[in-house]
Amino acid sequence: MSSEPFRVGLLGFGTVGSAFAELLEERAAEIERFNGRRPVIGGVLTRSRGGFEEILSEADLIVELIGGLEPARDYLLRSMRAGRHVVTANKQLLSQHGEELFETAREHDVRLRFEAAVAGAVPVVRVLEESLSATPIERIHGIVNGTTNFILTEMAHGASYADALKDAQRRGFAEADPSDDVSGRDAAAKMAILARLAFGTPVHLDDVRYEGIEHLHSDDLEYARELGLGLKLIGAAERRQGGLSVHVHPTFLYSGHPLAAVAGPFNAVTVESEAITEITISGPGAGGRQTASAVLGDVVSVMTGGARPPAPPLPLRLIEDVESAFYLHLDVADRPGVLAAVTQVLGEHDVSIKSVVQRGMGERARLVMVTHPVLESSLRTAIARVGEFDFVRAAPRTIRVIEEEFV
Ligand SMILES: NC(=O)c1ccc[n+]([C@@H]2O[C@H](COP(=O)([O-])OP(=O)(O)OC[C@H]3O[C@@H](n4cnc5c(N)ncnc54)[C@H](OP(=O)(O)O)[C@@H]3O)[C@@H](O)[C@H]2O)c1
Repeated sequence: MSSEPFRVGLLGFGTVGSAFAELLEERAAEIERFNGRRPVIGGVLTRSRGGFEEILSEADLIVELIGGLEPARDYLLRSMRAGRHVVTANKQLLSQHGEELFETAREHDVRLRFEAAVAGAVPVVRVLEESLSATPIERIHGIVNGTTNFILTEMAHGASYADALKDAQRRGFAEADPSDDVSGRDAAAKMAILARLAFGTPVHLDDVRYEGIEHLHSDDLEYARELGLGLKLIGAAERRQGGLSVHVHPTFLYSGHPLAAVAGPFNAVTVESEAITEITISGPGAGGRQTASAVLGDVVSVMTGGARPPAPPLPLRLIEDVESAFYLHLDVADRPGVLAAVTQVLGEHDVSIKSVVQRGMGERARLVMVTHPVLESSLRTAIARVGEFDFVRAAPRTIRVIEEEFV
């Protein structure tokens, strides 16, 4: 006698939801073969179809692919309180109500799985859960937003920001309203989720400092090329000064860094720890079918009774002011003594210079530098003073630099 089907209640039937239903049907027989139960869609909810209570009462597991905060939060909480395992791809919700959701999962002893919420089809949650049991994570660096990575890749080939964004929209890599992507907010939500997972600290989206790519200048990319640097929107979660720093910024990388070669709408995450040294995984960060495959992976993991997630490490306190190397761009009048005056002020604030490029003449000269690592607060104070010189023609611009040159 064959066993009962495993009924999946599906909330949301848009880009990811419909791709998930299709993939599940394609894979059902194979999953049944190794798992003993056949997964079936046991009800679909959209705004115009299905009833939540009825779907819940018949489901073994709930998959939430509605997105946004409400009613997704309410449905997930009610599902877990009713003893159902849940799978979601909802980064907004996890980064703003993670505590409540994880606590409810613990209380009711159900799984809350969310692989697709972080980097689409890139299985970073699984890697972190597995690495965690072996060694403390030191640092995560991620390209976790494919839209901005596509735009920056186009800009590196000479396109303007506006043209690259239009191209991304035309090819379906960017929404009609791309503000969550280009402002860095989408990446910040994903880094909040990753930071909680890797470091045990409840990080809310509001705790993550983020900066987007809308204000980047094409000439910064040109100078950076001369200095051997490439530009990425990098999310970081790292142990620093006994605490945890979580932030998202446009960041220059040297060409040997594993994330430097990640081009187009791809995502990639580098995890560093003492024992594993460094692991980089990359792949498609979005797309209905790709994301659906991560959701289905979570469903199968629950069906096979996949290991309980490891106990999170002891939480670290969040810190804001951390050291980084910086790229510094100054528009200056080309007069004798300008470089000396600038480097003196920088030196007084412990900002030491690693490399300098000077360009132009007369009233339109450029001074472009890369600093050694310095506390951000020291750099900001130094720059405020440099900005007061009468030979400085425009507000100084800074971009973070990841110094390490991986081989
Ligand atoms: N698209 C991607 O590539 C991607 C990648 C990674 C993660 N995600 C995440 O996956 C989730 C789903 O994204 P998506 O792109 O598939 O969204 P979508 O295409 O906008 O689909 C949303 C679905 O939810 C339904 N829905 C909306 N409000 C509802 C409500 N109040 N009650 C019941 N159903 C409701 C919609 O139904 P109607 O048809 O009635 O409007 C639609 O079927 C989001 O959390 C997103 O962040 C998406």
